[in-house]
Amino acid sequence: MLHAFLLSGDYLDLARAEIEYLLCLTNPRVMGRVLIYQGYVGENVRRLALTKEVVKVFSITSLDEINRSFEELAEYLSLTFCGKCCVRVKCFSLGSFGSETRGAGKSEADASTEINTEKIDKVAMERELGAILWKKGVKISVSSPDRIVRVYIFPDSTTIIGLLEFRLDTKQFSKRHPEKRPFFRPGVMLPKLCRALVNISTLKGVFLDPLCGTGGFVIEASLLGLRAVGVELYPDIAKGCRENLRYFSLSADVVCGNAAQLPLKDCSVDGIATDTPYYQSSKSLYSRDELLSKASEEFCRVLRVGGRAVVVTNCDCDFPSLKTLDEFRVRVHGSLTRRIYVLEKTGV
Ligand SMILES: C[S@@+](CC[C@H](N)C(=O)[O-])C[C@H]1O[C@@H](n2cnc3c(N)ncnc32)[C@H](O)[C@@H]1O
Repeated sequence: MLHAFLLSGDYLDLARAEIEYLLCLTNPRVMGRVLIYQGYVGENVRRLALTKEVVKVFSITSLDEINRSFEELAEYLSLTFCGKCCVRVKCFSLGSFGSETRGAGKSEADASTEINTEKIDKVAMERELGAILWKKGVKISVSSPDRIVRVYIFPDSTTIIGLLEFRLDTKQFSKRHPEKRPFFRPGVMLPKLCRALVNISTLKGVFLDPLCGTGGFVIEASLLGLRAVGVELYPDIAKGCRENLRYFSLSADVVCGNAAQLPLKDCSVDGIATDTPYYQSSKSLYSRDELLSKASEEFCRVLRVGGRAVVVTNCDCDFPSLKTLDEFRVRVHGSLTRRIYVLEKTGV
């Protein structure tokens, strides 16, 4: 079964990585903001934070052939589905290609053949395509459809037609915005990004944030059903983290401890995601480099073989004890670009 994933425009590379790591995909086809995958996707798509929607693909065609493909879709729906449908068209402009840094996202078309999708009258097209379905006996409701027929149109005229399977609930993230939690500290990562990094770290098992602060990662990991553990050096912050977890009725183990001497057994953790301190406070036990070096040795010790650590820093780093699988850069403002390293504990 072919599926199309509409990636979040804010974090294209990470959105792609989140799908690849969570669903164990290798080399999927990527067209701008859409990743195409042939295979079973299952319920895990519901965990994704950086995928806006997932469409079960009925056909991939060209814009000239769209009516003919809709005739076939109408035939299929009239035989298999008795609820109400509506058609929603999304056009990708030339600007939605090319911001990828992992070798994907380039239009496969010759630039001279590209069409200006901004000129497409989407409302008229939705009406026309809906009429094709309706003529074959498919019930239509624009205001309360049971299923949405999704159409993506690309500048090279490639047109994807399918049924919407999943749409991300974006409101959940605003409900958990750091400023809405009882214990708040400035500069922490947003829940959407925390969830994506937890997903990149592991699908199941024991999750650890060894520098857990107010609990951004621990909260997302608990909500995803992982057994979440947070370690924080300062007792007042650890207490605040527990208060935040209680606020969302979540249970996780938050312990006061040192990331450079983790109170955990060897090979006991399936995945780590953590945001390291960007500046050295007067109360710090170590310099930033010293902390990163000592802590990464500990990540290697506590991770199981094959386990991943997703480590966020504000500087370029080396992690000699772990294998670097991926590196991303996310610009926050002029003086802060986050580096996100995906590291793996190998068997040797
Ligand atoms: C960038 S903050 C983490 C923010 C966190 N992700 C959140 O959602 O609030 C880094 C945290 O590491 C803690 N920390 C600093 N040194 C530590 C150490 N040696 N061991 C454990 N925690 C430490 C700091 O107190 C701070 O709360």
